[in-house]
Formats: sequence, C-alpha cells, structure tokens
Amino acid sequence: MNIAVHNVCFSYNSHPILQDVSLTVQQGQVVSIVGPNGAGKSTLLKCMVRLLKPQAGIVHLDGEDIARKNSRKLAKALGYVPQNTNDVFSSTVLETVLMGRKPHVIWEVGDEDFRVVTQVMNFLGIAHLAERPLNQLSGGQKQKVFVARALAQQPAIFLFDEPTSNLDVRHQLEVFATIKQLAETEQRTVIVVVHDLNLAARFSDTLVMLKQGSIYAAGKPEQVLTEDNMREVYNISAAVIETKHGHYVIPIEPLGEPAG
Ligand SMILES: Nc1ncnc2c1ncn2[C@@H]1O[C@H](COP(=O)(O)OP(=O)(O)OP(=O)(O)O)[C@@H](O)[C@H]1O
Ligand SMILES: [Mg+2]
Repeated sequence: MNIAVHNVCFSYNSHPILQDVSLTVQQGQVVSIVGPNGAGKSTLLKCMVRLLKPQAGIVHLDGEDIARKNSRKLAKALGYVPQNTNDVFSSTVLETVLMGRKPHVIWEVGDEDFRVVTQVMNFLGIAHLAERPLNQLSGGQKQKVFVARALAQQPAIFLFDEPTSNLDVRHQLEVFATIKQLAETEQRTVIVVVHDLNLAARFSDTLVMLKQGSIYAAGKPEQVLTEDNMREVYNISAAVIETKHGHYVIPIEPLGEPAG
C-alpha cells in the first residue's frame, strides 16, 4: 500500500502548525521525517493515521481518502507507534504485544495470534520479558515492546514516532535494520520520525525535513543533510562527511537563537 498526503494544513485552536504539507510514500519504501522540536512531525503522523483531522488537504491510502475509510479497515492497514507511550496501564509485555493482534482477533486469541506474537518477541529479543508488567521495564525495553506490538499487527503501513529515542546504539541499529527489512523483504511501507539524522540517512530511501510546519527539503539523504540545511533548519553548524558506509552529518555547535 502507498500513503499520500496532499496539501495538508492543520491548526490547533486556530494556531497553524502544518502548512500545505504534501508527501507520498510508495509501497516498500522507508521515509524518515526529521526536523527540530515542535516542527510538526508528530502532528503530521497523527493526521496520517486519522487521529487528527486536517482543516485542509487530504490523506490517501492507495488513492482512497482515509476520512471515508471504515475504522476497522484503517486499523488493520496502519500500525502506529506514538511518541509517548508512557500513559499505559499495568499489563504484561505479552498482553501488550498481543494487543497488536486486536484488529485480527474477533472472538478470542487464537494459536495464530500466539504464534505471531511469540515470533515477534523472539525477533526483538524481548521474549524473556513476556510475563513482566510493563510499568517495571526500563525505558528502552518498553519502547521495544511497542515496536513489537506494531510488528505483531502486521499492517501494510507502519508509522513510528521516534521508536529509538530510548534505545542504546545496538538496539537502535536493530530496530532500524528491522524497519528496513520490513520494507525490502515484505514490501511494507514505513514512515518514521527520528531525531538521529545518521540513522535516518543510513536506513531510509528518502528523508523529509520539516521546518515550522512546512517541508523544507526532501530527497535522498545526501541531498537533505547538507551543511546549509543544518544551518537553515536547526541553526547549527555541521560537518558533512562521506564514508564507505554512507553520508554522515556531524553537529558542531549552535548558532545564535534556536530555529523553530
Ligand atoms: N494538543 C495540542 N494542543 C495545542 N498545541 C499542540 C498540541 N500538540 C502539539 N502542539 C503544538 O504543535 C507544535 C508541533 O508539535 P509536534 O508534537 O507535532 O512537534 P514535533 O515536531 O513532533 O516535535 P518533537 O520533536 O519535540 O516531538 C508544537 O508547537 C506544539 O507545542
Ligand atoms: Mg514529536
């Protein structure tokens, strides 16, 4: 499935946040959305999963307006992992990952649900935590549980809002390698909001850089992560280097006032 945002504008209480945002993510692609705090990244994701209704513009899933889609079909198609998953009830890891199967569970949890959930937990290395209450896990462990829940859902399109913000470098690489694999081998579509520009560059087909609610730059990582863009969007000086592993940006120092 592909997902396309056409000229979306969104305001909170008539305070404009997103201004005329358009982007298309083709099936099997990984697109990372980057940009400063408050730029509108999470707001954009919420518009894409219909948690927020844009005042103008439209979001299409395979050409169909999401505003007209039946909720159950939408829930099956989209796997969304929000930025803040702290406000959760004290269920266990197993119960939480199993909730990813909810769009597929009609009467009760079946063998297939347990098979998928076990496979995902093994894959992400959290199977040993299955019986632990969620509220006793570390920040990074909890974050992996929510990634696992989205994987267990097996949606056509994944939307992750900063899925690696609490993870150590090893686990960051693992989660992004998983994301890449979902796209490449299973032809899932992935949109991921992330602050780590180098992770984004290494694992994404396209980068979208938001500045104050508008797309400032979009394209291949090397086209987006330039010294000029780092200055214009983040108001920092940065060095850009090419290595045999790809394009890297090294933040050097802040310049003047923070960019919004
Ligand atoms: N529920 C809300 N009501 C009013 N304003 C909001 C609400 N949620 C977010 N905002 C404002 O909208 C703007 C964009 O917020 P958003 O969460 O989309 O930013 P972000 O790019 O995801 O930032 P971050 O990198 O910090 O997560 C911010 O100025 C924020 O204060
Ligand atoms: Mg955010």
